[in-house]
Amino acid sequence: MSKVRVGIVGSRFQADCIAGAVKAIPEEAELVAVASPTKGHAADFAMRHGIPNAYSDYHDLLRDPKVELISITAPNRLHAQITIDAAKAGKHVVCEKPLCITLEEADAMIDACAKAGVLLLYAEELFFAPKYVKAKQMADEGAFGRVHLVKQGEKHSGPHSPWFWDVEQSGGGAVMDLGCHGIAFCWWFLGKPKVKSVYSHMATQVHGDRTQGEDEAITIIEFENGATGMVESSWNRPGGMDDCIEVFGDKGQTYADVLMGNALPTYSEVGFGYAVEKAATTKGWTYPVFEEHWNYGFPQEMRHFARCVRGKETPIADGETGRVVQEVLYAAYASAGQGSKVTLPFRPKGVRKPIDLWKNP
Ligand SMILES: NC(=O)c1ccc[n+]([C@@H]2O[C@H](COP(=O)([O-])OP(=O)(O)OC[C@H]3O[C@@H](n4cnc5c(N)ncnc54)[C@H](O)[C@@H]3O)[C@@H](O)[C@H]2O)c1
Repeated sequence: MSKVRVGIVGSRFQADCIAGAVKAIPEEAELVAVASPTKGHAADFAMRHGIPNAYSDYHDLLRDPKVELISITAPNRLHAQITIDAAKAGKHVVCEKPLCITLEEADAMIDACAKAGVLLLYAEELFFAPKYVKAKQMADEGAFGRVHLVKQGEKHSGPHSPWFWDVEQSGGGAVMDLGCHGIAFCWWFLGKPKVKSVYSHMATQVHGDRTQGEDEAITIIEFENGATGMVESSWNRPGGMDDCIEVFGDKGQTYADVLMGNALPTYSEVGFGYAVEKAATTKGWTYPVFEEHWNYGFPQEMRHFARCVRGKETPIADGETGRVVQEVLYAAYASAGQGSKVTLPFRPKGVRKPIDLWKNP
């Protein structure tokens, strides 16, 4: 069958990951267009990745008949509008995490894609990270008996772009940015059970001069099957990105560290080019990674999504997945605001952004 023709909206950090991922699966997909509003960025990106068409307005990309599937790598506040516009233009959508800002947006995105008969795919690459997939396969085989606790943590020294720090544009801090991965991970790992309750403690420990958002949080999720998920999210960890899980059952446990666990323990007095995402230095002891995109699961994710577009696979991460995460995000912020557990379903209407539930409970 023909390759799925992908257009990328956005041209910076995550756009590079997606472009690299698509180029790693040439049998399934190809890059045909990019759109980014900053003058020259789309053209530079197109040149760097060998993409034939570059637009400064994403509406033009949506009018390009070559594009079948778009990947949205624009800031969170734009995800809903771009998705709805793409659905109207008949394009399938891969939306980066978090799905959007509000639950009303999530509903509108799912609705627009369903009405247009296009796929809404939720880009949670942890469902494809090889180590995490292996851990889940073992758990599903019964290796750990009844799994009763799953932990996921994502921590680094803070985002690379100013909009993440501005809660008006991002919707919240480290939980919105990183916690969404852990929420999705625990839910997926345990077989997508209903969420019963959420408890979260949030604080701004280090970056109060830059953001009103939380830069540190612990979120505990109680699932209907009795298992617990625990998600650690931090923008206060220098030394590069940290992405780890721990899984505990009554017959065993496993641990996985996506980045340092696959790295080369290295000492250099002079430094070198690149160690790992968000590492401030390459001097002294560092943990340079190799095959970074592969270890995260980005090419495997895009391969799955391309195959979904061709009807060869059924999505394991879609708009509904994003909406489950979004509801837990709401509950986490509300819990931090109230200082108590929040039970689900939790769908307050008219919330402007999730962090408001923490700041103005
Ligand atoms: N899956 C992951 O692990 C992962 C990692 C990083 C970022 N993300 C997500 O990807 C999205 C983008 O994050 P990023 O780190 O690439 O941010 P970034 O700031 O590096 O890039 C954002 C891009 O969006 C573009 N943009 C802004 N307004 C636009 C518009 N109106 N139309 C089209 N493009 C527009 C910018 O020009 C820029 O190219 C966010 O939602 C983020 O949460 C996911």
